[in-house]
Amino acid sequence: MNSSIGADLLKKISSNRARVGVIGLGYVGLPLAIAFAKAGLPVTGFDIDNDKVDAINAGKSYIKHLPAAQIREITDRKNCSATSDFTRLHAADLVVICVPTPLTEHLEPDLQYIKSTVALVAEAVRRGQLIVLESTTYPGTTREVILPALLEKRPDLKVGKDFFLAFSPEREDPGNPEHSLANTPKVIGGLTKDCAEIAGALYQRVTPNLVFASSPEVAEATKLLENIFRGVNIALVNELKIVFDKMGIDVWEVIAAARTKPFGFTPFYPGPGLGGHCIPIDPFYLTWKAREYDCATRFIELSGEINRAMPEYVVGRLAGALNKVKKSVGGSKILILGFAYKKDVDDDRESPSWKLLDLLKKQDAKVDYHDPFIPKLKKTRSYDFTLSSSPCTAASVAKYDAVIIATAHSGVDYELVGKNAKLIIDTRNAMAGVKGVKATVVKA
Ligand SMILES: NC(=O)c1ccc[n+]([C@@H]2O[C@H](COP(=O)([O-])OP(=O)(O)OC[C@H]3O[C@@H](n4cnc5c(N)ncnc54)[C@H](O)[C@@H]3O)[C@@H](O)[C@H]2O)c1
Repeated sequence: MNSSIGADLLKKISSNRARVGVIGLGYVGLPLAIAFAKAGLPVTGFDIDNDKVDAINAGKSYIKHLPAAQIREITDRKNCSATSDFTRLHAADLVVICVPTPLTEHLEPDLQYIKSTVALVAEAVRRGQLIVLESTTYPGTTREVILPALLEKRPDLKVGKDFFLAFSPEREDPGNPEHSLANTPKVIGGLTKDCAEIAGALYQRVTPNLVFASSPEVAEATKLLENIFRGVNIALVNELKIVFDKMGIDVWEVIAAARTKPFGFTPFYPGPGLGGHCIPIDPFYLTWKAREYDCATRFIELSGEINRAMPEYVVGRLAGALNKVKKSVGGSKILILGFAYKKDVDDDRESPSWKLLDLLKKQDAKVDYHDPFIPKLKKTRSYDFTLSSSPCTAASVAKYDAVIIATAHSGVDYELVGKNAKLIIDTRNAMAGVKGVKATVVKA
């Protein structure tokens, strides 16, 4: 460690005197704040959403897979709390930024949350602080956006000597019981070696496995590669689903057989489209940045095109199946089963169910949804539907002309659905192996 200020910060971290400030207490920031608090570091959580701040300070959870007992890991400890008072950032030695990085309407990076957060951090930046960006973004954000904003307010400070800056992508997979922060390697890219070392000392407190990248750009690009890899492979199986179906071959059976190969194959599964805050969005951060270098990103664009076409494909399969019983989509009663973007989570961001609902409504279908984790649909940037989750009982399911399984939550009684529905459009292979099915099942 070249910097004496950095050496002091390392000592503060190892003796639990360094305060962590986590900005953005959502799916990523809240579990991270809990992990740091559990590790014995004093933690202040920051969010602009007062409801979240109040919930945490009252020991309540607002994320399904994080029980309130875990929130109390923060609130029961001395020196840990949440706030929307950003002047308290000055007291934080280690600032971790976990705010959203969505896309604009034109599929371009929307850095407004990062920029407004950095403006607040810049007001408080001082000697002896480490700032880490965790939000997924394009290569160059930490160096080209964060660093100049901090230096503009404090031109007297030198990065790597007076204060420290790094990027460390979040690999949180909400609701995954096998992989959590504690057993998932954490990639770190510092602006300087000292920046990386201090960020490593922080993350070592919550995860044993650190991977040092040579720069923030490498770490930023690593996260994008991981998510582009998923997006492209999901597009591939979505395309194969359509081709194989025309040939009378079930893609799910093909994937099950292919995955028995012990090397060189990773299974990905088709579905009604991409959802969540990562896979549908992150690839376009690279596409946008690549334009600056006159580079085309054809793979990424093509996979986005295929994945975005999936809700239309599902509605087409529904229309075809209804046709066979002399019905049209218009006027039919449809139940969308599962609204979250993936099973067993309460997150409906970018869920393809929104698009399905929109397409069906535009064709004058009468649409309800059932999701045990999403009692009501809240207005989003793109959609505004006033709907509450409908029951999924034998009598209610029997009323619908078709049930579209958009998300296969574990708690749903698929035997009941299979026995009582007339027609099931199954986008998740949820009906495979279900006994006593009387409904017509169409995979889509
Ligand atoms: N959700 C995931 O599974 C996941 C996984 C890996 C990476 N990421 C990335 O992590 C980042 C955060 O995602 P998330 O899912 O936690 O989002 P989220 O929407 O659940 O949480 C973000 C939080 O930031 C708060 N916020 C917004 N602007 C703020 C500001 N200026 N100051 C303080 N707080 C502010 C919001 O109120 C919200 O509570 C994104 O870049 C995302 O791509 C998410």
